[in-house]
Amino acid sequence: MKKIVVLISGGGSNLEAIAKACQIGNIPASIELVISNQSNVKGLERAKKFHLMSKVIEHQNFNTREEFDQALLEQILPIEPDLVVLAGFMRILSNDFTEALNGKLINIHPSLLPDYPGLNTHKQAVENGDLMHGITVHYVNNQLDGGPIITQGALKIDPAQSEAKLISRIQKIEHAVYPKVIADIAKGYIGLQDDEVKFEAE
Ligand code: GAR
Repeated sequence: MKKIVVLISGGGSNLEAIAKACQIGNIPASIELVISNQSNVKGLERAKKFHLMSKVIEHQNFNTREEFDQALLEQILPIEPDLVVLAGFMRILSNDFTEALNGKLINIHPSLLPDYPGLNTHKQAVENGDLMHGITVHYVNNQLDGGPIITQGALKIDPAQSEAKLISRIQKIEHAVYPKVIADIAKGYIGLQDDEVKFEAE
């Protein structure tokens, strides 16, 4: 059984989708630890609902990004995880962190990268009159929302729809795609070699 650590900052709807997929055996892995950099977030309640061990490590309690990231690594590395999953973890990571987990760290981002790294992706896509919007799952390197892309999911923007509706459509794609990618990584169908994503036949 592969071991996963999930990092969150908020709602945790992706965490829930991943936890469900582990529970029903679609992902052959167990979530060993959930870490949140915010206390009192819904994601922590969701971790509890699935009986997952969780820890809060608040970034405000550290003087530097590097010290915070070091505290994260101190919790993560002893677990010897096969995969560390960023699921709405809204922190920029230091080089030391991404290098320590090279090839084992993935992120989901709500845009068709390289379009719109950072925040407010939905708003930017609508304001720019884009026809399509979507999500990207990628291995994480030391660039913000950068790193080799594993897969993307796209939808057509309906300019008449509210931003809330667009976000909810985007999240539905996330909840389908992220668990599937994690399952494929856990089964050895997807991996990172020499900074390139390799796909094996299922
Ligand atoms: C997700 O839409 C995820 O793509 C985004 O935060 C949301 C978290 O939702 N992540 C980023 O913007 C990372 N750059 P959740 O807490 O309900 O899973």
